[in-house]
Amino acid sequence: MRTDQKGTSRVHRHTYLDTHQVLDIPSLQAALAEARRAAWSVGLVPTMGALHEGHLSLVRRAREENDVVVVSVFVNPTQFGPQEDYSRYPRDLARDTVLAVEAGADLIFAPAAEEMYLPGHSTWVDVEGLSEGLCGASRPGHFRGVCTVVAKLFSLCRPDRAYFGRKDAQQLAVITRMARDLNLGVEIVPCAIVREADGLALSSRNVYLTPEQRQQAVALSRALQAAEALVAGGERRTEAIEAAVRQVLAEAPLGEVDYVALVDAEGLTPVESVESAVLLALAVRFGRTRLIDNTVLRV
Ligand code: PAJ
Repeated sequence: MRTDQKGTSRVHRHTYLDTHQVLDIPSLQAALAEARRAAWSVGLVPTMGALHEGHLSLVRRAREENDVVVVSVFVNPTQFGPQEDYSRYPRDLARDTVLAVEAGADLIFAPAAEEMYLPGHSTWVDVEGLSEGLCGASRPGHFRGVCTVVAKLFSLCRPDRAYFGRKDAQQLAVITRMARDLNLGVEIVPCAIVREADGLALSSRNVYLTPEQRQQAVALSRALQAAEALVAGGERRTEAIEAAVRQVLAEAPLGEVDYVALVDAEGLTPVESVESAVLLALAVRFGRTRLIDNTVLRV
């Protein structure tokens, strides 16, 4: 199943779609049966598609560390709120397949929502506490949807390792806790945030930004850098750090701050000073587009 590096000619495009796309659960299980018989290690990269370099860095890492790499592409309805962008979320499976295969994926698992959620679906995975603050506060039910779909993907793929970006720091913490609490037997591998040249963290939602919003969106990473500089200069008080962060964010008048949080990097509980690892996490709305970013402050 190991994939050789190939070029992106149109001929290959068809080959990729035919040989790597897996569009339903029985086909996934048939494809993975071979890997199981051979005792190959399986790496899973869960995504909602609209793949960019952030996703692809996870796929490349999975390629280095596993015999078989599965990338799931599934816009998960249960993690979107009623007023959120589920229906307009960007979808292009052919493009995603080519990109994922070129980054090293063997299988692109893209099931239909009707197959993932059968009529009468009534089982949910809820990670209490960790899911409630930060993004959980303005997106009720979001992490319940994320955990449920990720648990299902783990059951379907039974991966040895699963790859998640630090960009979604709360999601990473919640999933790591879920895997531990439910003894899922998966190693959760955190991966570094990939950024544009000006510092904006890559996100499938960046395409929604107007040129003006896009320019101002650089304020998020600038605010994080300002905080890092303060800590490097000896500042420890989170109140002072938060004030400096808000000052930089105020330079983006099109952005409306949802939260600025300085929390313990594991338990996500608020801290008053930077002693050990402190997660500084931000969420800012530009129109209907909500951007998040974060860094870990260390003494
Ligand atoms: P999605 O937003 O598509 O992200 C898929 C994975 O890519 C996540 O682990 C995310 O943290 C990572 N990622 C996104 N942007 C990144 C960047 N700039 N640098 C590094 N990693 C980045 O997160 C989800 O989908 C969904 O909630 C999912 C886990 C698939 C469950 O539906």
